[in-house]
Amino acid sequence: MLLDTRGLSVHFSSDSGPVHVISNLSFGIDPGEVFCIVGESGCGKSMTAYSIMGLLPENARSAGEILFKGSDLLTLDDESYRNLRGKEISMIFQEPMTSLNPVLKVGYQIGEVLMTHYGTSKKEAISKAVELMNTVRIPSAEIRANEYPHQMSGGMRQRIMIAMAIACKPSLLIADEPTTALDVTIQSEILKLIRGLKDENNMSVLFITHDLGIVSEIADRVGVMYAGRIVETAPTSEILKEPKHPYTMGLLNSLPAERGRPLIPIRGNVPRPDDLPSGCKFSDRCDHVIESCRAEEPVLKETLPGHFTRCIRAGEDLWRS
Ligand SMILES: Nc1ncnc2c1ncn2[C@@H]1O[C@H](COP(=O)(O)OP(=O)(O)OP(=O)(O)O)[C@@H](O)[C@H]1O
Ligand SMILES: [Mg+2]
Repeated sequence: MLLDTRGLSVHFSSDSGPVHVISNLSFGIDPGEVFCIVGESGCGKSMTAYSIMGLLPENARSAGEILFKGSDLLTLDDESYRNLRGKEISMIFQEPMTSLNPVLKVGYQIGEVLMTHYGTSKKEAISKAVELMNTVRIPSAEIRANEYPHQMSGGMRQRIMIAMAIACKPSLLIADEPTTALDVTIQSEILKLIRGLKDENNMSVLFITHDLGIVSEIADRVGVMYAGRIVETAPTSEILKEPKHPYTMGLLNSLPAERGRPLIPIRGNVPRPDDLPSGCKFSDRCDHVIESCRAEEPVLKETLPGHFTRCIRAGEDLWRS
């Protein structure tokens, strides 16, 4: 296993005490595997990514272990993290404009990653940057390397971010909603590109999205997150065909209608992390809730080989019943 997150918890301190946003989160990613975290806004997807990157906000505290190639990232000092970040583990952010420098040419920004990590000369770094721009299929790369981020379209800027992220051939690429701001055709091209790069470099990918509809295009395995917990995890085809957790079923039912089936949104809203129900955290929105759901929080149980579900009714046939 390349990445092995064990019992990760994250809380923020607030005036009324600690607010837990990630609780006892465990998942692993094998070399060359694409693992997708899916869940609604606020469920803790980005905090999971930032925990791995060592980029949690100042007022956040984490506990547990994040083993990467066997060593625990949560114990790294700042300098070791700086050496690792961008080189061994890199991240593509949702909005490239906020992570690209508006006053530097894109070719230079890609090259800078190589200058920082390998001490590559500026001339060589920029020529490598052009190669990387070709790799991420930016047309006329040599000319466009001299452009500034604002001269490029959203899709092209996201390709620049990907080129920066893969410059040092990282073992793990984290992509936090990298296609949310793009239209569907471009989204599809970017997903294809990430998959292709992963195959060429035997890279692992942690892909984050709120859209269960795109996981079939990218993921080998999926972890569905709710209120800072994984509620279901399984190979992609299985989770889409045979979801066992009512929340996963809800996400599937709320996808744009397929084959004439009406779209059914999940009722209610995502609870605030400081106001979670007792017992199962999804119980107040669940169509299949029974009394014992509210008594105790269910554990993540293996319902089929490699398929884990945090629901006491996971063994029943609830899907489309
Ligand atoms: N600096 C902060 N201080 C306190 N709480 C925070 C802070 N940043 C995030 N949170 C809370 O942590 C929780 C998890 O946030 P996170 O950004 O991980 O959600 P997300 O799943 O990435 O959502 P989205 O889909 O909107 O990006 C949210 O409830 C959020 O309000
Ligand atoms: Mg987020």
